[in-house]
Amino acid sequence: MLPRIKGVLLGVLLVSIGINPAMAESAAGPLDDEPRLRQLLQEEMQALEEALATISTALPRGEWHSVAKTAGQVHDSFIFQQKLSDADRKTLHQTLPEAFIQRDKAFHQQAKKLQHAAESQDAELSLFYYSKMVESCVTCHRQFATHRFPSLLEGGSDH
Ligand code: HEC
Repeated sequence: MLPRIKGVLLGVLLVSIGINPAMAESAAGPLDDEPRLRQLLQEEMQALEEALATISTALPRGEWHSVAKTAGQVHDSFIFQQKLSDADRKTLHQTLPEAFIQRDKAFHQQAKKLQHAAESQDAELSLFYYSKMVESCVTCHRQFATHRFPSLLEGGSDH
């Protein structure tokens, strides 16, 4: 039992000091130093995952109300907008890289556009913005969450 635990610990240690060159740049998450805010971000992400699943079943059924409502909730940020104090917002703006904030903004705009497309019952446009949103998940995770999703590192660079 002990050697196995040692092996695991060593693995954790190697990863955390970035011994793997591919991981060196991205072993740290953007909110590693803010555990409470990181926790809120994770809750937000879990809500996003559920929203995406809801939209992916409602869209092919033409359930426009459900698509629009869910996209609207994504735009309004389920947890983040509601649970953050002004001080939290300030900390986030000081802690998160500008590129992260821009990605997040772009993502929320896509959600708004999806909401409008669904309200107009425009299947093609809804599909377009839905796929843009999924692309945003992947792009942001490849840039800022490979500590959480290391397999996204495969395939290499971001362009
Ligand atoms: C602007 C950047 C950004 C966007 C856009 C984004 N994510 Fe994330 N996501 C992150 C980061 C950073 C983490 C890692 C948080 C941490 O440090 O644990 C994460 C983690 C997650 C997790 C793991 C949460 C947990 O419980 O640990 C899930 C699930 C997830 N994201 C789903 C999604 C989905 C689905 C989308 C798109 C609909 C998405 N994310 C869009 C940045 C983003």
